[in-house]
Amino acid sequence: MRKNVIAGNWKMNKVLSEAEQFVEETKTRIPSEEKAESIVCAPFPFLPVLVEKAKGSDLKVAAQNMHYEDNGAFTGEVSPVMLKDLGVTHVVLGHSERREYFAETDETVNKKAHAAFNHNLTPIICVGETLEQRENNETMNHVEAQVKQALSGLTEEQVKASIIAYEPIWAIGTGKTATSEQANEVCTHIRNVVKQFSSEEAGEAIRLQYGGSVKPANVDELLSQSDIDGALVGGASLEADSFVQLAEAGA
Ligand code: G3H
Repeated sequence: MRKNVIAGNWKMNKVLSEAEQFVEETKTRIPSEEKAESIVCAPFPFLPVLVEKAKGSDLKVAAQNMHYEDNGAFTGEVSPVMLKDLGVTHVVLGHSERREYFAETDETVNKKAHAAFNHNLTPIICVGETLEQRENNETMNHVEAQVKQALSGLTEEQVKASIIAYEPIWAIGTGKTATSEQANEVCTHIRNVVKQFSSEEAGEAIRLQYGGSVKPANVDELLSQSDIDGALVGGASLEADSFVQLAEAGA
């Protein structure tokens, strides 16, 4: 009932010509939008060119971050108005790298989630625990708090339309994937939290991705889990063939 959503997060990689070539090589090979959603999350300077290049295809283009204000004196920042104007459809919010290196907090993630919906952008909200938190059995409480703060004040319809990416920080870029059972256990908890926090229907509708060393070899097993509806992929999304295989797995 929930459509899988496969998003490739390029992070700070590629130059424009490589990004264009990637879109050229993937846009006709990904599954149709009715079967699964395929998204590339690209660096800001590539966005207008990639949106143009992806036009008429099922490939969607996302930003990796944004500010929560529409405009103003925020040197170096990019606003939701700008993203919407370009034709961007999704935005990644609260990635652990932004939380760790750029002082992103649950409060700013929440402001950004509201701003995204105000401008008709779909937020992909990242949550996840550190290795230390997992070892101290704090995973569920930590992720629950992140989810509740991120979604605070959103309407039921907005919660339904949100995407949450569960990314255990210890599995990002390390080659250590959470087992599909570990990933699903946390996603089931997130879904239950959303059911209590918003509504049963919102918990059923919200889509939950897993992220952390996802690759073509492990994606099927992860997606076969009851509460995992997609993947947020870093390293393995950089190469066109690999991205197409991941996207196909979502269909
Ligand atoms: O946004 C993507 C995640 O941080 C996962 O990255 O697939 O390279 O582990 P990774």
